[in-house]
Amino acid sequence: MILNTLRLQFRFLLPLVLTLVAAAYLALPLMDKLTLRWSSRDLSLRGELVTRALTEPIAEALPEPMRQRTARLQALFNRAVQDERLFAMALCGSDDTIVHKSGTYPADLGCAQARSLSAQTLAQLSLASGAVHVGMHPVVVDGERVANLVLLHDLSFVERRSQDTQKYLIAFMAGLGLVISVITVVVAQLSWRGWVSGARALLRGEGLLSPLISTRGELAPLAADFRERLRDLEDSYRRSLDRDDHWGPERLRALLRSQLRGDELMVVSNREPYIHEQRGDGVVCKRPASGLVTAVEPVMRACSGTWIAHGGGSADRSVVDAHDRVMVPPGSNDYTLRRLWLNAEEEQGYYSGFSNEGLWPLCHVAHVRPVFRESDWVAYRAVNERFADAVVAEARSADPVVLVQDYHLALLPALIRQRLPRATILTFWHIPWPNPESFGICPWREELLQGLLGSTIVGFHTRYHCKNFMETVDRHLEARIEHEHSTITVNKQTTLIESYPISIAWPDEQERQRWPVIAHCRDAVRRRLGMSAGHKLAVGVDRFDYTKGILERLHAVERLLEKYPQWVGQFSLIQVAAPSRSTLDEYQAFQQRIHQTTERLNTRFGRPGYLPVHLLAEHHEFEAVNELYRASEICLVTSLHDGMNLVCKEFVAARDDEQGVLVLSRFAGAAAELNEALIINPYHVEEGADTLHRALTMPEAEQRERMGNLRTTVRDDNVYRWAGRMLTDAARWRLRERIEARMQRHNGA
Ligand code: F6P
Repeated sequence: MILNTLRLQFRFLLPLVLTLVAAAYLALPLMDKLTLRWSSRDLSLRGELVTRALTEPIAEALPEPMRQRTARLQALFNRAVQDERLFAMALCGSDDTIVHKSGTYPADLGCAQARSLSAQTLAQLSLASGAVHVGMHPVVVDGERVANLVLLHDLSFVERRSQDTQKYLIAFMAGLGLVISVITVVVAQLSWRGWVSGARALLRGEGLLSPLISTRGELAPLAADFRERLRDLEDSYRRSLDRDDHWGPERLRALLRSQLRGDELMVVSNREPYIHEQRGDGVVCKRPASGLVTAVEPVMRACSGTWIAHGGGSADRSVVDAHDRVMVPPGSNDYTLRRLWLNAEEEQGYYSGFSNEGLWPLCHVAHVRPVFRESDWVAYRAVNERFADAVVAEARSADPVVLVQDYHLALLPALIRQRLPRATILTFWHIPWPNPESFGICPWREELLQGLLGSTIVGFHTRYHCKNFMETVDRHLEARIEHEHSTITVNKQTTLIESYPISIAWPDEQERQRWPVIAHCRDAVRRRLGMSAGHKLAVGVDRFDYTKGILERLHAVERLLEKYPQWVGQFSLIQVAAPSRSTLDEYQAFQQRIHQTTERLNTRFGRPGYLPVHLLAEHHEFEAVNELYRASEICLVTSLHDGMNLVCKEFVAARDDEQGVLVLSRFAGAAAELNEALIINPYHVEEGADTLHRALTMPEAEQRERMGNLRTTVRDDNVYRWAGRMLTDAARWRLRERIEARMQRHNGA
């Protein structure tokens, strides 16, 4: 290990040191030149000093007769050239002739040549004995130049100096290289190890400085956030990869054929996609108000297979065959609906009790206390068992692909796994998943989590819900959680936890052709409700449920009419409230409260021919709802908490005129995707009123811009993409399992 590290470091060090030494060699000529220049300047200065020192004796000697002058100058020059660096000298007269020179002065160097050499930058002359520096300095007496002194300095010391500099430079560079590389290697090793182990620790869910700081230390939220961001990035990356490709029924079918080898597809949910009701002597078929059905039904139409659900319609039994099956949709018979019958006690305990009085308020932050009764739990378990038996009865192979839907069936995945160990179970949780503390309220939390972890994949609308789920498992179960892969392993069963934002089937050209034109929808709705042509409308379409923020919506309308009285008589809200769970006290109280508030508002602001709120508390088929979407200026979605909410996406799909404003609660999962909506906090009544006013006065161009973008988002991220992504992940999983099984067989053989 140590040897390896040293070898690694040596591999890094050697090239660095060699590079620096080579750089030093390359820099040598430059260094020589610099040294020479520097020396040359040095010698010029020195020459001036010498000249100044000799000026007086020279000035005294010059007026002397020739012989005395020569003798005095000779003595003077001989003394001067004893300096080891001064090689020779000469005195030039004002007529540029040599007056006197030292014995070593070159015979062929005249005054004129000395002057021109001295004017050059390096002022250098090569002699047989070596290079000399030539300097000519004026001898000035009483401000007058009387002669010039030529001084030749020996340059051999410069060469020595240059060689010394070279040696020092190379040694310095080699030393520097060594020091830099050692520091770099140490720092790189330390920081790389630190980062790698830090990042690994973060991804494992441990503290950054683990083990110095415990997993649940101060850095845990940061680590969780970091992991979240990574997952978000991965999600958007995954989405961006297949963004160019259009997802539709054909592509989904092809995926089933190619990646899942045409394997059998089964859906299991509480709510059935079609309800048969007795009307007089006849039977009518209804589509329930359910986001789940809106999303999953087109997928089943595309893929065929079997949908198992509770048969709750008054005429449901009358239309099924001996095996409780009926082909749907009526007329096109694309897939089989297998109905499962519940008696009154089962429905009360499992559906009304545990699912809707327990789990529903538990998972929604809507300030309604969850109620958990032992008897409801017993019924819930029993009905989940019955659904599991139905899956086994309907399965045509040992490894079907089963899509389990929602909170009514949390125990079902593990029950199917016991009965069909090779099944691929994709569970989708359509509602929010709360934080671990909230979920901890449930007395049967471990059983519910174990039930869900029988799935191959558990899907949620958002990463936030995935995170809550993983933290809940971490808090309440003994499980191995791998945040890098977003998997949870319990008792050797590994489950992928992934976000799949649900959507709607984008209407195709044929369907759109059947829709009445916008102007007709506007006229029809206004005429029906006795309104004038220019009357402005907002529409809300919900199940009559306390999580949908209907009361807050009414308060916002009331405030709008108070604060902006110009809208009184000019604006109304049409609230479709599909009857839902009305046997439950909480729902009855809530629905009553909405009726009362509506009445109060209508009394306060209404007048003959004008009601500010039209509460339509009855079931509406899609065509009627679509007409309202197309007739209204605004769609109001003010959920207090919602997994996704598909009403907002349906409104966007309905507006092929690219007009209309979507006002959307920030607490609906859809708010993360539909950025061009006017996003509000439904609890803030003032904000709701101001946003309504803004929507009512929004210029057409802005509406077009916003709606155009919203339509692109919903069209691209449609429900076929949602199902496609889940099935692709499932196909990968199946492939991996098949390979592993083959390898085990191979190793065993
Ligand atoms: O889409 C969310 C959801 O809660 C579904 O789970 C459910 O089918 C639907 O709303 C309507 O509720 P219910 O089935 O109780 O009428």
